[in-house]
Amino acid sequence: MENQKKVGREGDAVSQGEYREGASEAIAGLASRIVRRIGETGAIPFPKFMEMALYDPQAGYYAGRADQVGKAGDFFTSVTAGPLFGRLLASHIASWWQKSAQPGAWRIVELGAHDGTLAEDILSALRSAHPAAYAGVNYVILEPLERLAIAQRQRLAEFADRLTLTGDPASLAPLPGYLLANEVLDALPFHLVEATEDGWHELGVAISEDGSFEWRDLGPAPAITASLPLRAPGYRTEVRPGFVEFLQPLIATIQQGRMLWIDYGFERDDYYAEARTTGTLRTFRRHEAGEDPLSLPGTQDITAHVDFSAVMEAVESLGGSTLRFENQARFLTEVSRPWLLSLEGQTDPATMKLLRNFQTLTHPGQMGSRFHVLEVAF
Ligand SMILES: C[S@@+](CC[C@H](N)C(=O)[O-])C[C@H]1O[C@@H](n2cnc3c(N)ncnc32)[C@H](O)[C@@H]1O
Repeated sequence: MENQKKVGREGDAVSQGEYREGASEAIAGLASRIVRRIGETGAIPFPKFMEMALYDPQAGYYAGRADQVGKAGDFFTSVTAGPLFGRLLASHIASWWQKSAQPGAWRIVELGAHDGTLAEDILSALRSAHPAAYAGVNYVILEPLERLAIAQRQRLAEFADRLTLTGDPASLAPLPGYLLANEVLDALPFHLVEATEDGWHELGVAISEDGSFEWRDLGPAPAITASLPLRAPGYRTEVRPGFVEFLQPLIATIQQGRMLWIDYGFERDDYYAEARTTGTLRTFRRHEAGEDPLSLPGTQDITAHVDFSAVMEAVESLGGSTLRFENQARFLTEVSRPWLLSLEGQTDPATMKLLRNFQTLTHPGQMGSRFHVLEVAF
């Protein structure tokens, strides 16, 4: 396999550093750490590069700030579309609580809570519309990044008596609980693989002679590609083989309960369809999608769709069962039925605004068909 892309490294990171004003030094530092790592070990697998680019504690894309999501950031999510998403999730969670013998002490666990907006929307809705459930709830944010934890603590100050912030799921004794995560699975590091004449090879990141990051063929990758179909040479895609290890400690926090994973993705046959020859890897910077994850690490998001078949298989191997896998439009339309019926005849501006929020979340041309919802029970 030939090296395919050459991109700027430290020099470019400094000269284009104005994207994150004042951050160019940190970004250059991050590039240097990646270069040093490659110098020590040779070409690194892409998950290592991605982990450093997104989660390096000093300058990783997610570690350094909390303004990536929303209009002034790099991309929108269902959370930034408005408060309705959180309200509908609160009502769905409250109905699970109602049907689960209404445990007196229970918890909601959120991963990837970003600046705490979804937690705030859910807790506000529980407090006002489901006070009996709110009375016993502990809202846990599993947050490994200190900078984001500070933002969450600030935003959720009024819920301080309900809130636990921890980076370690093992610190949570099992309780009845509901775990949720919006757009987290797509942000988990993934391997990049390419089909060759002699099967799947893994792509890693190396340094070219001119000092740029570049792709490098790391050789056959049977362990991580065992579940992939054979594809024509040149077909490139992504694979995340570690869902069992990722889910195990999370499931251990749930005595009895559910998990809700919302993200863009497909079942395996669709993900690895013959026609999808260049995979789903994307970068995002200032609402523009790109395809060069090696460019200026720390300044852009790196993401790939989720193979939901792999997640469901991991869940089932850990004793869980799939309750639903459907698109966001279908899920939210079902969950919002009582609310929609209660609106009949209302045309006040606040209601109309919420209805526009509903449309953004459910319209097939907006977020309705792109996002999928996987709900599992334990
Ligand atoms: C695309 S953002 C989504 C943010 C938010 N959930 C939303 O929908 O607006 C992905 C988030 O997942 C977080 N994340 C990634 N891996 C994580 C992990 N293992 N545990 C907790 N958070 C994680 C990132 O730090 C980032 O805040």
